[in-house]
Amino acid sequence: MSDPATAAPFRLAISASRGPEIEGRVLSGRVAAGDRLVAATSGRTAGVTSLRNGAGEPLDAAQVGDHVVLGLDDAWSLTPGDLVAGADRRPAVADQVAADIDWRGEGPLIPGRNLSFTVGAQTATGSVTEIRHRIDPRSGQALAGKIVGTGETARVNLTFARALAFDPFTENEATGALTIRALSGDAILGTGRIAFGLRRATNIHWQAVDIDRAARAEIKGQVPVCLWFTGLSGAGKSAIANALERALFSVGRHTYLLDGDNVRHGLNRDLGFTEADRVENIRRVAETARLMLDAGLIVLASFISPFRADRAMARALMGEGEFVEIFVDTPLAVAEARDPKGLYRRARAGEIRNFTGLDSPYEPPLSPEIRLATGGSTPEALAEEVLAYLASRGTLR
Ligand code: ADX
Repeated sequence: MSDPATAAPFRLAISASRGPEIEGRVLSGRVAAGDRLVAATSGRTAGVTSLRNGAGEPLDAAQVGDHVVLGLDDAWSLTPGDLVAGADRRPAVADQVAADIDWRGEGPLIPGRNLSFTVGAQTATGSVTEIRHRIDPRSGQALAGKIVGTGETARVNLTFARALAFDPFTENEATGALTIRALSGDAILGTGRIAFGLRRATNIHWQAVDIDRAARAEIKGQVPVCLWFTGLSGAGKSAIANALERALFSVGRHTYLLDGDNVRHGLNRDLGFTEADRVENIRRVAETARLMLDAGLIVLASFISPFRADRAMARALMGEGEFVEIFVDTPLAVAEARDPKGLYRRARAGEIRNFTGLDSPYEPPLSPEIRLATGGSTPEALAEEVLAYLASRGTLR
């Protein structure tokens, strides 16, 4: 590169790529013909053969803020947002980083909850895996305490669903800053500064396998799908899911029913009913459901799953159309009157804390694929409604 070692290294955020031609915005440094570049996440390198500006006019060099079209001596396949850098000063690439976060979300920062992270021009789903410590905004000193409220700053570990390219913020603000949003919606929940990568993602490759999910689904002759039942305790989720599984089984489908009460005896027996525990409960269940989809199964998941953000996270983990949200819409008064396990009575008596619908919230789905109004219908009749939906979509071929 033409930069002296002390100048900012060349970084380009890709907006489009067409074979040996790439286009993007210069985030830092400068580039000229003859420079060698690297595509940060794939590690492929190429030389710059030509430079043009956005209007197609030739350029000698491009620098910060410029929109530039570069001709390369090799064809790369890039996606918008990807980072391209000078080959002699590569950015870090990792799917786990330590960062300082200025949290602005409503309520405390909850580890495990899925959020959307933007680093440079790259965006990925991710979550806070650990709050290391809070930071005193004035002195920058570490403070004890792992609860991070609105307006507070903390050093955290983050994990992203895919490896992202970045530089430590202290070396390059353009590629080291991050923005945090909810999975749905544009509101900014926080901003941050990446300190360092926790492990090089390039060391962890997916094991290449010959039998893929399509093959596993094919041998079962079915389209994998996750039928996610949400609703209050006592709403009838499990009864409907049971009836539906029986109906699917009787026509030769390969199914698996994941149910809150059962999963909480095994995989999730370490979890209770605080907000953080419920978030982790749903995260583990959604990951489990995803593995089962991969195995070619029709998965029925029956969980109160009271928070929209967590159901959105489960949806985001799965492929387009694979997550079918079924709102078992039983009013609180009806669920409480039924009280099949006597839990509402115990909660009212103060024996159970954080009970959904009483002293812990339930956020009804805003646009579920299916809404089941339970009043007066049998579980079998409601299961039929789900079957009809699946048939109409062609999922039950
Ligand atoms: S979730 O909120 O994390 O999705 P999940 O569906 O796994 O909950 O578990 C709910 C079941 O746990 C209820 O059907 C009920 O039997 C039992 N339970 C025990 N304590 C609570 C509580 N505080 N709130 C809700 N359900 C509870």
